[in-house]
Amino acid sequence: MTQQFEKVRALTGMKDVLPHESAAWETLEAIVREWLASYGYRNMRTPVLEHTRLFARGIGEVTDIVEKEMYSFRDALNDDHLTMRPEFTAGMVRAAIEHNLLYDRPQRVYCMGPVFRHERPQRGRYRQFHQIDVEALGFAGPDVDAELIVMLARLWKRLGLQDIRLELNSLGQPAERAAHRQALVEHLEKHIDVLDEEARRRMHTNPLRVLDTKNPAMQDMANSAPRLFDFLGAESLAHFEGVCARLQDAGIEYTLNPRLVRGLDYYNLTVFEWVTDRLGAQGTVCGGGRYDGLMELLGGKPAPAVGFAIGMERLLDLWQQSEAETDTSECDIYVVHQGEDAQRRAAILAESLRDAGHRVLVHAGSTGFKSQFKRADASGATVALIIGPDELAAGQASVKWLRMEEGDTRPQQETLPFDAIAETLKTRM
Ligand code: HAM
Repeated sequence: MTQQFEKVRALTGMKDVLPHESAAWETLEAIVREWLASYGYRNMRTPVLEHTRLFARGIGEVTDIVEKEMYSFRDALNDDHLTMRPEFTAGMVRAAIEHNLLYDRPQRVYCMGPVFRHERPQRGRYRQFHQIDVEALGFAGPDVDAELIVMLARLWKRLGLQDIRLELNSLGQPAERAAHRQALVEHLEKHIDVLDEEARRRMHTNPLRVLDTKNPAMQDMANSAPRLFDFLGAESLAHFEGVCARLQDAGIEYTLNPRLVRGLDYYNLTVFEWVTDRLGAQGTVCGGGRYDGLMELLGGKPAPAVGFAIGMERLLDLWQQSEAETDTSECDIYVVHQGEDAQRRAAILAESLRDAGHRVLVHAGSTGFKSQFKRADASGATVALIIGPDELAAGQASVKWLRMEEGDTRPQQETLPFDAIAETLKTRM
């Protein structure tokens, strides 16, 4: 006797996308690809697994992601330290360096797919989630910074999203950050009595992140902290103003948020997030910014770059709130039949209908017409084709419209010769 196998469930925070949900994903992906192509962005695909040190170096040793959210393990076969990508940027930059992608010109590229972070799951926060990651490699801006933001505004408009707003900040250059950091550490030291344990631990390693705290007891301290923005020199300010001027040209509203620091260490100058109140606690739909030092940090020739990533689950959630209508039907035409000969004729007819561009399902198995019609209806098809013994003998099929609208002048049911069906349906569907 075989022992009963204990059912396996998906991992916490990792979701299945079921057939009735995937139509929305596929429609969104198609819209996104078209949108990216219209700005000259080309797709690239990087591996899900990379050397752990790529992310430790690229994202930063003392970030939440690297300290506690990465799926890292030792490959038992060769002892390599590997990590499931927690984001795309580091891997894309690695690939650009490895393949010398920037040798004759800058590159506009994007990736789409799953990324992994071991976070506490809740609405809009998963352990496997999906990003649309867009990178402009080799561009110094500020024109391209603004172009990316304008481009995002176009996508929101195309999707009919509501209540999504832009927050903008500048993180300046490393020297400006160093000066600010020193002032900030002094401020934190002065207020050491209100700092919680995590803040005390971080105040010397990553003081900027201390200001990101949600701890109410630390808000006054955070609000009165020296602002990085006040340490920016003329060039950094000019870059920021260059971005703002172009956003104004495009009629895009933004809020300057001096507290916006982002959770990854590679940023400089422009950083931004698109946020909404419609998604509960996880309201950031998209985040990005400039990272001019990353190429060099990862061993490449210095090259400026800017990009962003959209969280697809959050974008879908928001999109569905704007009542996006997606087609969840399985097919356009459902063929019902009776008897083996009719079934074989149905299969041939279906192939010719597919040649003509229709999506076709032929009923599988031999059940009565009634239950076949039930299936036809549930499939979401527009039309059912019926081939019974009489139709087969006459070389015809009955065409039945399953979804008639008011005022529809099409005959609800008629009989057509097999070889006329594809053309006739084309003109009527
Ligand atoms: P990020 O802010 O870490 O940036 O992630 C970008 C977006 O991914 C977030 O705004 C959010 O929508 C989504 N996201 C993040 N964590 C989760 C999660 N646990 N579950 C669901 N969605 C999530 C980056 O990853 C940078 N690489 C963006 C970038 C590209 N900067 C420059 N180029």
